[in-house]
This record gives sequence, C-alpha cells and structure tokens, in this order.
Amino acid sequence: MQHADFATSPTGALVSTEMGQWAFVPHPLPPYTLDYARLARPLSEAAEAIGELNGIGRTVRNPHLLIRPLQRREVISSSSMEGTYTTVDALLIAEAGGETVATPDTREVLNYSRALAEAIASLTDLPLSLRTLRDAHRTLLKDVGRGRGSTIRAGEFKQHQNFIGTHGKGIEAARFVPPPSKHTLECLDALERYWHHDDNGIDTLIDSALIHYQFETIHPFADGNGRVGRMLIILHLFMRNKLIQPLLYLSPVFEERKDEYIDRMFAVSRNGDWEGWIIFFLAVMRDSARNTITLAEQILSLQTGYRERLQRDYRSNNPLTVVDHLFELPIVSIPAVQKRLDVTYHTARTTVETLLKEKILEEIPNEANPRLFAARDIIDLISGKSSNARSSA
Ligand SMILES: Nc1ncnc2c1ncn2[C@@H]1O[C@H](COP(=O)(O)OP(=O)(O)O)[C@@H](O)[C@H]1O
Ligand SMILES: [Mg+2]
Repeated sequence: MQHADFATSPTGALVSTEMGQWAFVPHPLPPYTLDYARLARPLSEAAEAIGELNGIGRTVRNPHLLIRPLQRREVISSSSMEGTYTTVDALLIAEAGGETVATPDTREVLNYSRALAEAIASLTDLPLSLRTLRDAHRTLLKDVGRGRGSTIRAGEFKQHQNFIGTHGKGIEAARFVPPPSKHTLECLDALERYWHHDDNGIDTLIDSALIHYQFETIHPFADGNGRVGRMLIILHLFMRNKLIQPLLYLSPVFEERKDEYIDRMFAVSRNGDWEGWIIFFLAVMRDSARNTITLAEQILSLQTGYRERLQRDYRSNNPLTVVDHLFELPIVSIPAVQKRLDVTYHTARTTVETLLKEKILEEIPNEANPRLFAARDIIDLISGKSSNARSSA
C-alpha cells in the first residue's frame, strides 16, 4: 500500500504495522459531508424498487418459497466472488443429505447458507451485534480445511495483520492494508454503535452502503470478511425494517460488477469518494430488487401452474403439499416425502411417482441410496436459467 496514496485521505489515518508497513484506519462513521443532491435520484430509485419488493413480501402466502431460493443464489454468488465455487445442483444435493460426498467448496457454501439463515433467524430474539457476526463467521468457516483452518479461527477476530492483495504475494505488494488487529475492536465498537443509532439523519439505504464499506475496510477477520460483510447488509436492512421479509440479496449483482465494487471501496479510502461508492451501491440495490421481483413473479407463476394442474387432476392433496415444499427444497427423497407428509412409505412413493409422471420431478442419476429427485424447473429458475424452464401448462 502506497503511503502517498492515502496520506491525505479524508476518510482515515495511516498507522504503522508491527512489521513497519502502513495500514489504514478508517475514521468512525458518518462522513462529515455528503453531496445529497447527487444521491437523491439513485436513492429514490433504490427505495422505489425495494418498496415494490416489500409489496410482494407482504402479499405472498409463504415467503420462504422466495427466501430460500434467493439465499441459495446469494451464497453461491458471494462465495464465487471469493474463489469458492459450487452449483445450485451440488448445493441442493448436499442440503438433501448428500453432504458427505460434497466437495470442500460445496460444504463451505452449505455452511454459508446455514450461517445466513441462522443470523437472520437470530434477529427475532436478539439485536444485530458483533456477536451475530462472529457467530455467522463461526458457522461459515466451521471445519473448513484446505490447510487454511489452522491460521483462521472460526468465530474469532483476527490476531495478526491481514491485507488485501494479489494471491501469493506479500504485504509489501498489497493494494490495501486494513487496520492492525489491535485497532479492530475500537473500530468495530464504533461501527456497532453506529448501526444502532436511531437518529443520525441519514437514510437507512445510504447507511447500508456506509456500514458495508466500513466493515470491509476494518476487515476484522483473517478471512471471510467479504461474505460476512455481505450478510451484514441484509441483517442491517432487516433489523431496520427496510425489508418486510429478508428478500434483498446483492451478491449476484455485485458479482457482475466485481471490479467496480472493489475499486469504489478503495476510492473511498484513498480519495474520500463516498458519493461514487454510495451511488454504485444504490444502483446495485435497485437492480437486485428488480431482479428479485422478476424472479419472485416467475416462481409464483410456476407454483400457480403446478397447483392448478394438480388440483384439477388429482384428488389427493399430497402432490400439492410436496410441490409447495419443493420450492423451499427442490431435491427430495422418498423417505423425506414420507416424513414431510407423515404417511406410509408406499404413499410417499406413489406421490413421488405422480410428480415424476407430471414431469415436475426427475430422478437424479447416480444417487441410489436414497434415490434423489429434482424439481428441474424450480432449480433452473434458481440457477438463473429461467428461459429454459419448461412451460407448466
Ligand atoms: N480496497 C478494499 N477496501 C475495502 N474492502 C475491500 C477492498 N478490496 C476488497 N475488499 C473486500 O474484501 C473482500 C474479500 O475479503 P476476504 O476476507 O477474503 O473475504 P472472504 O473470505 O469472504 O473471501 C471483498 O469481497 C471485498 O468486500
Ligand atoms: Mg477470502
């Protein structure tokens, strides 16, 4: 990190690390001044899209039908931004019980999915705190091997200086060096106080951009800061009642604009370009909300199509019940259906056969024990392959 690049930064101060490098310590939020005239339009566009999304969140009968697919998209995208790759299919198979055969990357994404769901659920009983983030980090990096586990303590803030740079190069070549570990807590405490501040006069959506930047710049964990920081966005918005349901996830759009995402945060630290970052962040929010609205409409219309067909053609309610469940977990086994419906094995098998005949389910090859069945159209929607989805008519 070049001293000259940051020496005059209005957003933070340079301090020396144990090893004599320079590190950047951000000033506490909020920024002194923001050019609201530039922010007005991006803010109203994001707010409008989120308002529309909240309309869906309010009317949908079972919000989990939308939440679960969106969370899967989120964790796959957010992980892939950090070099951890899996597919919707692999993640779902792991979720359906094939965890032992999952690759290390898939297991890490499955951890992420659990961490995210747990963190959101925790907000029902507890306020959003640093503890929430440490718990999420613990679940995220639980049993993550690959030789990294030894240096990364799951659930603990960093003990050593970290840096953001090119893989395989040292701190000397780092593009950005976050605060030394001894500054981590004071920075985080200030951030936590900030997100609980009720009346700072700044719109919550703008706050969300400020808080995400601040968290990433503090970089409090040895690893996992990107993923935990992106969880913080939804947690903060949900806690602040900006979202009726946890339906807004930004990683798929961040992933498309990853270089800009990182450059804009870098520019806040280097030049104090808050507005550039906030405008970008609000555009990502707006586009994410719009994409989510489209996906929600597709999911709900697929579900309506299935329901109409099954209600018309079958007397039993079982296929219908299973179909609703498939939107939450699109890969099932016969024992899972049996448990879900609380029926005999025979009835569960008949129900699965009905859904196979209707081409709502298809058998996954090479998964014999137990046999697994996939709701292909639903999975294609989650994977973003909606144009391939077959008509449900
Ligand atoms: N210059 C920067 N300033 C602040 N944050 C940055 C900068 N460059 C990258 N980041 C953040 O750091 C994240 C990567 O940090 P890392 O701890 O490796 O996260 P993860 O393990 O989830 O991979 C990026 O996703 C981004 O959010
Ligand atoms: Mg990483």
